[in-house]
Amino acid sequence: MSETKPITILGICGSLRAASYNRMALRAAGELLPPGVTLEIFEALRDIPPYDDDARRQGYPPAAQKLRERIKAADALLFVTPEYNYSVPGVLKNAIDWVSRPPEPPVDGKPVAIMGASPGKMGTVRAQQHLRQITACVNGMVLNKPEVIINNAASKFDAEGRLIDEETRTFIAELMAALATWTRQLQSIRSCADVI
Ligand code: FNR
Repeated sequence: MSETKPITILGICGSLRAASYNRMALRAAGELLPPGVTLEIFEALRDIPPYDDDARRQGYPPAAQKLRERIKAADALLFVTPEYNYSVPGVLKNAIDWVSRPPEPPVDGKPVAIMGASPGKMGTVRAQQHLRQITACVNGMVLNKPEVIINNAASKFDAEGRLIDEETRTFIAELMAALATWTRQLQSIRSCADVI
């Protein structure tokens, strides 16, 4: 196993709004990466059409195909999501539906981390549980711990969108470090399996 092999994480924010706390948290994750890790952000969630299996059979729409390719190229995924009505926003579920279909669904076997921010007290805990369940269905290798639940989000970001809560910055840094370790562990298991 090589500890120095670079890792690319693809970050996907479940909110489309410009002043999204979750996008702010995703950007903060980009500042809190361990050495050798890069975060890329998928910004085209709004371009993905509603899932239609007839359309899929005629060929993936460009934005859905782009997401499939970006996930395939990444070493790991980071979902940063709001909670909508106790669950995952439709746009994020829709995107996952698109990438769940053949050929070669790209989340299959991919290391995944989840976090979320909400102005409320529960900090997306219910949405994160649903997202873990959805990700299991597409065989994403979801990291169990640490959990990053950003509640009372309005008090944790400044007017420029910077994460100013030091405890939350530490939690996110720990999640990024754990995701890098998890990714390298899974890559190591795979390379051993390839030798066998
Ligand atoms: C919400 N919000 C919300 N918050 C929460 O903690 N639990 C919930 O179930 C819901 N449900 C919900 C539904 C819908 C349709 C909207 C628009 C909002 C509030 C939500 O947490 C808040 O708008 C966040 O700011 C959304 O995240 P971003 O856009 O800031 O990343």
